[in-house]
Amino acid sequence: MANYPSKRLRRLRYHPVVRDMVRETYLRKEDLIYPLFVAPGEKVKNEVKSMPGVYQMSIDILLEECKELVDLEIPAIILFGIPEKKDAVGSEAYDDNGIIQRAVRAIKAKTELKNLLVITDVCLCEYTDHGHCGVLDGENILNDETVNLLAREAVSHAKAGADIIAPSDMMDGRVATIRKALDYKQFTHVPIMSYAVKYASGYYGPFRDAADSAPSFGDRRSHQMDTANTEEAIREAESDIEEGADIIMVKPAGAYLDVIYRVKQKFGMPTAAYQVSGEYSMIKAAGKMDWIDEERVMMESLTAIKRAGADMILTYFAKDAAKLIEKH
Ligand code: PBG
Ligand code: ZN
Repeated sequence: MANYPSKRLRRLRYHPVVRDMVRETYLRKEDLIYPLFVAPGEKVKNEVKSMPGVYQMSIDILLEECKELVDLEIPAIILFGIPEKKDAVGSEAYDDNGIIQRAVRAIKAKTELKNLLVITDVCLCEYTDHGHCGVLDGENILNDETVNLLAREAVSHAKAGADIIAPSDMMDGRVATIRKALDYKQFTHVPIMSYAVKYASGYYGPFRDAADSAPSFGDRRSHQMDTANTEEAIREAESDIEEGADIIMVKPAGAYLDVIYRVKQKFGMPTAAYQVSGEYSMIKAAGKMDWIDEERVMMESLTAIKRAGADMILTYFAKDAAKLIEKH
């Protein structure tokens, strides 16, 4: 093998055209999924304090936003709901007239939005008055009771017209139960994108402002994963795949690139990564302070997530990134 001085890796880096030719990873608009927060009311567009450029929107505004996304050629959204009323068992989550169900029906009623893929997040934490992801017995989240409600929520979303169901709760056995419930109600064609490997993370802080879903006591460590673990991530992904997940997700993304890489290598499944609220807000904040070049760091972070092995990325930067991809 030739080596230095005849071998020089810089040779392919001098000319911009050559650099483009040897690029290995591309961020495409087709990879992007944009999270949206739906709130009750009309003409509501409240900016989330900790997430500049991200809004809670009522359904009328949401429809305008979706039109903009279609124009930007962003192919998919994931919806989170802020309900009218919260209670101990998160009733609005599985109410056919709940905020998400109404939002999905409104989107699906618009012919100009017919190519927009609508994914719905399935969890109870936005709908419970205590902010936990399930039904409580004292301070303990009851697994199996919660899973049954999540299955009702999933079916209710599918009935409203959701294209993909994305359970984010991390209860045991929820993928199998949701699959069974969807199939029983004739939604055999609706895929499940499971938040298979979701870590208990400080990076979710701003989301809890956006979705008004902070737990009133304790944290989510009894169901979400410990940052320190990766063998367990493999077991989590494996069990969701066995239970029937069609797409598996790793979340957060940036601090867990090794996990994305391992999961993709090991299972070869369609793999999603969620660049979460804190990842977004940190880049936005540093950009606003002029401490970093926001666009550059945004594209670098998204490209790194793809390079690690993600096929698709849920990101609050979807619109900004789509505009930049356009220019290239
Ligand atoms: C709900 C859910 C959360 C996120 C997505 N779905 C919050 C949480 O688990 O506390 C986080 C997304 C983000 O931070 O952008 N279970
Ligand atoms: Zn939750």
